[in-house]
Amino acid sequence: MSKLFSPFRLAGQEFPNRIVAAPMCQYSADDGSANEWHLQNLMTLGMSGAGLVMVEATAVERIGRITHGCLGLYSDNNVAALDRVLKAARRVSPAGTKWGIQIAHSGRKGSEQRPWEGGAALKAGEDPWETISASALPFGDWHTPREATAGDLARIRDAFVAAAARAVALGFEVIELHCAHGYLLHEFLSPLSNQRTDDYGGSPENRMRFPMEVARAVREAVPDGLVFGARITGTDWHDEGIDLEEAAIFAAALKATGLDYICVSGGGVVPGLKIPVEAGYQVPYAAGIKERTGIATRAVGMIADPHQAEEIIASGQADMVALARGLIDNPRWPWHAAEALGAEMTVPPQYLRGHAPNWPGAKLARPGAGR
Ligand SMILES: Cc1cc2nc3c(=O)[nH]c(=O)nc-3n(C[C@H](O)[C@H](O)[C@H](O)COP(=O)(O)O)c2cc1C
Repeated sequence: MSKLFSPFRLAGQEFPNRIVAAPMCQYSADDGSANEWHLQNLMTLGMSGAGLVMVEATAVERIGRITHGCLGLYSDNNVAALDRVLKAARRVSPAGTKWGIQIAHSGRKGSEQRPWEGGAALKAGEDPWETISASALPFGDWHTPREATAGDLARIRDAFVAAAARAVALGFEVIELHCAHGYLLHEFLSPLSNQRTDDYGGSPENRMRFPMEVARAVREAVPDGLVFGARITGTDWHDEGIDLEEAAIFAAALKATGLDYICVSGGGVVPGLKIPVEAGYQVPYAAGIKERTGIATRAVGMIADPHQAEEIIASGQADMVALARGLIDNPRWPWHAAEALGAEMTVPPQYLRGHAPNWPGAKLARPGAGR
């Protein structure tokens, strides 16, 4: 019996399997509103059979976007556009698929060009905006942010709550706080980006203060039966940054606040890091957080082989695995993983004739076949 394809319960929700489509920015929205690109993207990911599909980092306020193309939940138009897309994606995905959304604020990593337009700081004439962060320190040669004031912090905390309430009203089963990859909440957590001298800087407890204020406020807005989690950094991949022990302190505080799971990622808080990007490179951090805190974890990062994914779940290193690029490469990855692991997978009846058990050509189509 495959563990990857075993169901999993969190809060009041049951996930049909442990495969998660990781949040992936598409940089394709219109002032935060989803459009046809998101429609095809989320319909495709929904049909993949992943037990949970996470919608990309979604800005809680307009200046919390990374680029002009980032998704948002800061306006009624954003809500209406996402409602249409989510309803369509649910219609084509297997019964039991759960939908989650990652709510985020870009902080000093905002006001950027889309990656394919250069990925540099927006220039005058490209409608740049003033960014804010824990401290007035730029990320590389991007915009120098303004140090967030008490007023900014209260507004942003409330914006997280409002976005979470909108996500709940849209029917998402999972709400995830983005506390990783060098965006605003991570900028407060890491000593590499937070050099404040007030109650929000200095000791780990102080650096965690704002993310914890946000987590507590959002917890109030997410009903108990829904799943509330966070993506955090397991390591900053830097000697003076967050390490696993400090990450575990944050994870334990989130658990005590009533969060249901932690997705463990890393990096992104300062440029030029040397990250050993190899198979499953962040899995030990997910395992470390699970071991130290007992909270359910999701592992992510270079998980692409079905047997590798099965081993991560079977060995108890994590409770869920998320794939990003592997699902861009092959949105039918869960079907193929089921085939490799001898598990059953529900496929849409319209596509049954091309499903491996029914299609002799499947053997020819697999890499290496016929050679
Ligand atoms: C196109 C793309 C967009 C991404 N956008 C997000 C995002 O919105 N939020 C996030 O936390 N991570 C984002 N990531 C990171 C992925 O979720 C994932 O952690 C990372 O790609 C490593 O997993 P992989 O090896 O399976 O791709 C993105 C990655 C890609 C490739």
